[in-house]
Amino acid sequence: MAKQRLDKILSATGRWSRREAGELARRGQLLVDGVPVHDASMKADPEVSEITVNGEPVNYQEFTWVMLNKPAGYLSATEDGKGATVLDLLPKELQRRNLFPVGRLDKDTEGLLLLTNEGVVAHALLSPRRHVDKVYYTRVTGCLTADDCTAFAEGMSLEDGLHCQPAELKILRAGPESEALVTLREGKFHQVKRMLAARGKPVLYLERVQMAGLDLDRTLSRGNFRFLTAKEVEHLRKLV
Ligand code: URA
Repeated sequence: MAKQRLDKILSATGRWSRREAGELARRGQLLVDGVPVHDASMKADPEVSEITVNGEPVNYQEFTWVMLNKPAGYLSATEDGKGATVLDLLPKELQRRNLFPVGRLDKDTEGLLLLTNEGVVAHALLSPRRHVDKVYYTRVTGCLTADDCTAFAEGMSLEDGLHCQPAELKILRAGPESEALVTLREGKFHQVKRMLAARGKPVLYLERVQMAGLDLDRTLSRGNFRFLTAKEVEHLRKLV
């Protein structure tokens, strides 16, 4: 890897801004191969040199991956003239890293949203040919039945022209209001809502609970995020 500025390396971790990196350097807390570096604009190769802050190795990642527990009311977009986007939920250092959402959740949908700046992997995960599973918890009006499950499993063709690949509907509770898990291997516009509306069971609530084998981290409260672990990122890269 080519040498990079130390302030860039530190800000890429999402833990420090470039300005904070400069302060750490000035205070003698930033070391390269054991030697204090007093100017964070100096360059180093993170694969060759050991970079530490207060004795702790800096875990440099070329790409950033985060899992956000999206609340309702935010658009899955990088910018929007009118309203708040999911990027507004991230700290300033991360907003500068050109992250974008891996697929979209509707404004009123909650739950697992991955954001990254690793375009190649993100786009491959979204490719219809990859069949990456997405699992949604939903609450609907009306009593879900075995016929609804069969219709999902067979692949539905909706009156509005949408053709859906076979999907799974697993009923958790059936009643005047029902709860279910829906597993899709594609991600068409408003797909869960449209499929359930076509069965006469309009969606009251929708939350994504799993994507590409990663579960929504329940320790994250709504609106909070965490970095994916190296193992989780490796898992996503292997899928594509
Ligand atoms: N299906 C929907 O209808 N909405 C979402 O946000 C995601 C899947």
